[in-house]
Amino acid sequence: MLRRYGVRLSMLVVMVMVGGHLAAGAEEETLDVPYVPTPENVVDQMLKMATVGKDDILYDLGCGDGRIVITAVRRLGARKGVGIDIDPERIKECEVNVRKAAVADRVTFLQQDLFDTDFSEASVVTLYLLPNINMRLRPALFRQLRPGDRVVSHDFDMKEWKPDETVEVASDDIESTVYYWMVPGPAAGTWHWTLPKADGQERYRLRLRQRFQTVSGTLEADGQPQTLSGLRIQGDRLSFTLVREVEGKKVTAAFSGRIAGDALSGTVIGYGPGLPCAGDWRARRDAVTPVGSWNWSVDGKPAVLQVRGLDGRRYASLKIDGKRRAIQHLYVWGAGVYFFMGRRGEEVYEGVIEGDRIVGTVSRKGETPQAWSATRAPAAGKRIARQNG
Ligand SMILES: C[S@@+](CC[C@H](N)C(=O)[O-])C[C@H]1O[C@@H](n2cnc3c(N)ncnc32)[C@H](O)[C@@H]1O
Repeated sequence: MLRRYGVRLSMLVVMVMVGGHLAAGAEEETLDVPYVPTPENVVDQMLKMATVGKDDILYDLGCGDGRIVITAVRRLGARKGVGIDIDPERIKECEVNVRKAAVADRVTFLQQDLFDTDFSEASVVTLYLLPNINMRLRPALFRQLRPGDRVVSHDFDMKEWKPDETVEVASDDIESTVYYWMVPGPAAGTWHWTLPKADGQERYRLRLRQRFQTVSGTLEADGQPQTLSGLRIQGDRLSFTLVREVEGKKVTAAFSGRIAGDALSGTVIGYGPGLPCAGDWRARRDAVTPVGSWNWSVDGKPAVLQVRGLDGRRYASLKIDGKRRAIQHLYVWGAGVYFFMGRRGEEVYEGVIEGDRIVGTVSRKGETPQAWSATRAPAAGKRIARQNG
């Protein structure tokens, strides 16, 4: 605890000290984070956890002297590296460093605000920012990156987007923490498929909920509940095992497949008496859209979640009792919806779209989650048609 506090304190102390230094040169007021370089051994750990290789395009948002980008390209052979920093002094240092490292052909440094940056071509994003900046950036990471892309952050996490891996690294007299995430694919929703059985076809239905990379759900075969284990989404790959007892013997079927839109394709491997046997597995998800107006009530007052889709982006707002607020943190994973209200996420809504309903829970700080459901309002055109007809 003390050590963690030490890490945060060191960043804050530097913030105060660096403030004076910046006042002499760069535009102090535009810096969201002071310049503190990541120690070289921590850079190595970050790149190792992100498994940076020759196919990767790495962006360091707030790149300082460019060390992470340059190391990724020079030592690990990354295809391309891009460093973004708002401070012109840092970009000058980067230019000197990249020439020394002789990798200028594959490395670009841009002086600009990381919040105005299109990093959608990145397969790896590295960060050494601050907790509130990570949080501001989190929606953009989900918007711009694809399932399977990786994010590593020095010292600061992403709140309720729990890391897939955390490693402590000692350097000089301070310990650093490196957090690693893989962007999860959209698994939530209701999936259907059939598989042959002795006397025909068996119909399966898998209903999944999702919060970031955590997936939970239920599986039915011919309407009968089944035991599901090892349910996991890793990038766009969904996997789980169906465990059954057939004539007193344990039989398992390991499903693994890739999600592309509302389709899933992969393999199923059965283990048990007379097995293993492998076959293709193809499933389809019930198509739904979050776009629209969703109604429910909060303490007897009408609430409306409005989700719009424009230029591939989603915009959401919540109107409670006539007061409208924009929602910065709306996440959609397939049919799964997750958003929260309040700067500290005081009210967290999560659910799965099933036709014209969202069914899920709302959690308020310190309280047990309550059931929550919202109903899609008919589209304006339909309403007018109904009134006229
Ligand atoms: C803690 S340093 C990290 C440097 C480098 N990533 C590393 O790990 O060595 C943060 C960097 O972010 C830059 N920065 C701060 N606010 C920024 C913004 N809004 N846009 C782009 N860069 C920013 C600072 O100039 C600084 O170089």
